Amino acid sequence: MSWKDWRKNILPEKPIYNPLDPKERLKIAYQDVQVAKSYDEERDFRATDVSLHYETEIIGIREVLREVKGPILEVAIGTGRLCRRLRDVGPSEMCYVGLDVSLPMLHEARKSLRENPSGSPVRPVYLLRADAFQMPFPNGRFHAVIGFRFIKHLSPANRHLMYKEVNRLLIDEGLLIFDFYGWRKRAKNQEEEHRLTPQALRAELEASGFKLIRIYGTRHLLPALLSSPFRALKLKAPVRALGLLEVKLLSPVDELLGRSRGGIAVAKKVKAEKEL
Ligand SMILES: C[S@@+](CC[C@H](N)C(=O)[O-])C[C@H]1O[C@@H](n2cnc3c(N)ncnc32)[C@H](O)[C@@H]1O
Repeated sequence: MSWKDWRKNILPEKPIYNPLDPKERLKIAYQDVQVAKSYDEERDFRATDVSLHYETEIIGIREVLREVKGPILEVAIGTGRLCRRLRDVGPSEMCYVGLDVSLPMLHEARKSLRENPSGSPVRPVYLLRADAFQMPFPNGRFHAVIGFRFIKHLSPANRHLMYKEVNRLLIDEGLLIFDFYGWRKRAKNQEEEHRLTPQALRAELEASGFKLIRIYGTRHLLPALLSSPFRALKLKAPVRALGLLEVKLLSPVDELLGRSRGGIAVAKKVKAEKEL
């Protein structure tokens, strides 16, 4: 067989790694053992840290997961910083799968998930290494997919691919829960491609078979200011109370006004219409 034929018949059509694709750079960044080891410490995600943003995220996601009755998938689970605070929500037999492409990040996740300081019953978590753009699951198996600090870093074209893959894995009306960068006025009044208004977010989700059903703001100025002395004193309870204020009171106001400085988006997979 000539080299040309061999290449055509044996090698994949597309290169496995395209260095120009930004989603490949996101994969590479987290293959470093030191990056994985220091990830939680540098972002205040350790149990002893007090971060308003983290607390608000947990409150928001827990509220959504209470409605979920079947298997949950977390894409790009990283060190498991969300999973370890979510795995007691819902029935204990409910399956939680965590997927990431980086072994060092999965190694940190495995270590941190071994601990259960709360002592309350938690469900087991199945960790697996795979690429989130080609996940090794059959269609329609998950009731919810979570994806934080991952989808928001993708370009619009790659977000579209991601929504498509998640849509494939979800049951009808299954939920996609992820964080997004809100829109802020720039010098030239232009929208950056990863900063989205709720309107733009709604439109791109609709184009991929989802309906945006809720937004929880996690970037309000007032709670951030009020929380600062409590954060300095490492007092978690008042910081959590301010997180609750963001989720319960300020987020519905944002929704009424149709604006957000960023937060959690909850989208429902639109039921596919049966072909006649
Ligand atoms: C910023 S970290 C976020 C980790 C975690 N979700 C969090 O909220 O802290 C980004 C994670 O995405 C993972 N990642 C990047 N590209 C990926 C891909 N194509 N498939 C699966 N995981 C990916 C990285 O390995 C890393 O763990």
